[in-house]
Amino acid sequence: MKQLVEKGLLHGADYNPEQWLKHPEVLAQDIELMKQAGCNVMSIGIFSWAMLEPQEGCYEFDWLDDVIQRLHTNGISVILATPSGARPVWLAQKYPEVLRVSVTRQQALYGGRHNHCYTSPVYRDKIMQLNTRLSERYAHHPAVVLWHISNEYGGECHCSMCQAEFRCWLQEKYGSLDRLNEQWWTTFWSHTYSDWSQIESPSPQGESATHGLNLDWKRFVTDRTIDFLQHEVRAVRSYRPELPITTNFMYYYDGLNYFKFKDIIDIVSWDNYPTWHKGSDLDIAIDTAMFHDMMRSIKNKPFLLMESSPSSTNWQSVSKLKKPGMHILSSMQAIAHGSDSVQYFQWRKSRGSSEKFHGAVVSHDGGSQTRVFQEVAKLGEMLKQLPDVVGSQTKSEVAIIYDWENKWAIEDSQGPRNIGMGYKYAVQSHYRSFHQQGIAVDFVDMECDFAGYKLVVAPMIYMLRGDIDRKLQAFVQQGGTLVLTYWSGIVNENDLCHLGPIPHKLTDVVGIIAEEIDGLYDQEHNNGKVVMALGSGKLQGEYRCTMLCDLVQLNGAKVLMEYTENFYAGKPVLTQHSLGNGEAYYIATQFEQSFYDDFYGELIDRMDLHRVVDVAIPEGVLMNSRTSENTQFLFIQNYSPNEQPISALGEEWHAVSREVVLHEEFKIEPYEVLILKRPVG
Ligand code: GLA
Ligand code: ZN
Repeated sequence: MKQLVEKGLLHGADYNPEQWLKHPEVLAQDIELMKQAGCNVMSIGIFSWAMLEPQEGCYEFDWLDDVIQRLHTNGISVILATPSGARPVWLAQKYPEVLRVSVTRQQALYGGRHNHCYTSPVYRDKIMQLNTRLSERYAHHPAVVLWHISNEYGGECHCSMCQAEFRCWLQEKYGSLDRLNEQWWTTFWSHTYSDWSQIESPSPQGESATHGLNLDWKRFVTDRTIDFLQHEVRAVRSYRPELPITTNFMYYYDGLNYFKFKDIIDIVSWDNYPTWHKGSDLDIAIDTAMFHDMMRSIKNKPFLLMESSPSSTNWQSVSKLKKPGMHILSSMQAIAHGSDSVQYFQWRKSRGSSEKFHGAVVSHDGGSQTRVFQEVAKLGEMLKQLPDVVGSQTKSEVAIIYDWENKWAIEDSQGPRNIGMGYKYAVQSHYRSFHQQGIAVDFVDMECDFAGYKLVVAPMIYMLRGDIDRKLQAFVQQGGTLVLTYWSGIVNENDLCHLGPIPHKLTDVVGIIAEEIDGLYDQEHNNGKVVMALGSGKLQGEYRCTMLCDLVQLNGAKVLMEYTENFYAGKPVLTQHSLGNGEAYYIATQFEQSFYDDFYGELIDRMDLHRVVDVAIPEGVLMNSRTSENTQFLFIQNYSPNEQPISALGEEWHAVSREVVLHEEFKIEPYEVLILKRPVG
């Protein structure tokens, strides 16, 4: 890890020199251009299996030796990948078991990538042999700073070997079939299993409506993927086990519970491809910000931006160019949220195949005079000015619960709103208000610890896993503030409904009992009216209620807002309840955004929550801060196409990114990021 930190902020790309081995002049030019672009790292070997093992058991490392050595000689470090993301043709031809079987039980032909069976002993053996050799040959190479395990793990395999593993997994979880039948509620439709061998993974032409089965399958897929990852890691750790590892995650990828990777990998990394300039850039920035914060939160440590496009992204419906400034702004957004790197896919545009029109640092013209190259080089210069950002932290007093397993269950539950339960949307409504008001947020799942937070927001915790109810109760008792919403505390971890009052075991914490929930069509709404002021009066008047309206009875809470329409007009829609040294709020509907802005505006004042800096944030601007032992960095980001005024800051602040007078009102340009710092501690 030390080696990594010493490099300063990382700047580099996925580098695929194996595509250019017949063009030595291109490889030589690459190195020159990398230096001009201010790159200090390259991720290599991600898709090199066929070049490293062109025939079974025949390994060719000379070309990779040359590439690594050449990078090293030029001061460029290496993130070395294991090539399991895509396999050679010979492997699939000789051992068809490595090919994935789909949910409809169809075995794939050879092709594509990210589609191997995670159980296949042959695949595991072949990758073990290759990874071990990579470790032996390169783990001690001074250029190599990090292992990049595979690429974007994802998907699932339904082959007979995976089915057998799934049954073992279930046996271990439930112990007996009786217990499994009970937890999956299989007497419904007479689906009771009488032998383990009868259990099959979910399928559209088979069992798909046993929610407990669907959930356990998703959990199994995460565990199987982690098992495969660990298998790869064992091999790369055969030599120099202290070399850190990462694996690159994907934007809100639903198929894997990323929190489960937290103790397995050393550094979180992810691949970020926002659709800039498609609609509101501020909306896109907030959506991206939330995932950056999630990535930082998984290990509560800086992460790496492993991939991003320096210009357009060819798999999106329309390949839009980044407007001038957006490349630096969006890259610095990652740094602002805790990334210690900016890396691209890919260094040089491929000449053929499916990504030949994907943005890259070096385009087909091969030169450094392009607009994209120039912005990349400018960013490289800026990153070099910020060596002390590396390792700096983001402190948050607010945690929002985002729980993958809960999301899976909500989206599979069949009712109360099959046109969309809006879990991510709900989470983001809360997040957005904090971010726009300059409040740093961590994300936690139900297994995390809430110690150290002042405010925990729990949107739609439909499923209660582990001891979340006890943790939330203790948190409030001990002085914390909890915000709980509609559709919470309804089922156990296997999607069995809790019997008795809901939110289960939390009715005394929030002081309400949720009785019924009304699903609303997209065009419908209700309103919530403030009936008791919370504090300064920011929250006042009426706010629109959408999607779902919970009808609750009071169980000790005070009513702050009531519904105004429908047969439930006059019933509570926002309540407040004191417990021990803390308090709990219950939000009974999905309000329009201005509600969250005003409600949290009140709570921020009431709880005296710490803002990244004490100035008003204009619309379109977002701010983040990171703090090292003796410096606080402030990243002011303008996602609007207009210049924006920022109020004067104290004398202790200095601008790093350009010269600007800060102690009087100053301006931030369209799509600009201003980086400031001040001494602390
Ligand atoms: C993913 C992959 C890369 C590349 C990019 C293109 O992130 O990891 O190999 O395909 O997408 O955007
Ligand atoms: Zn399989």
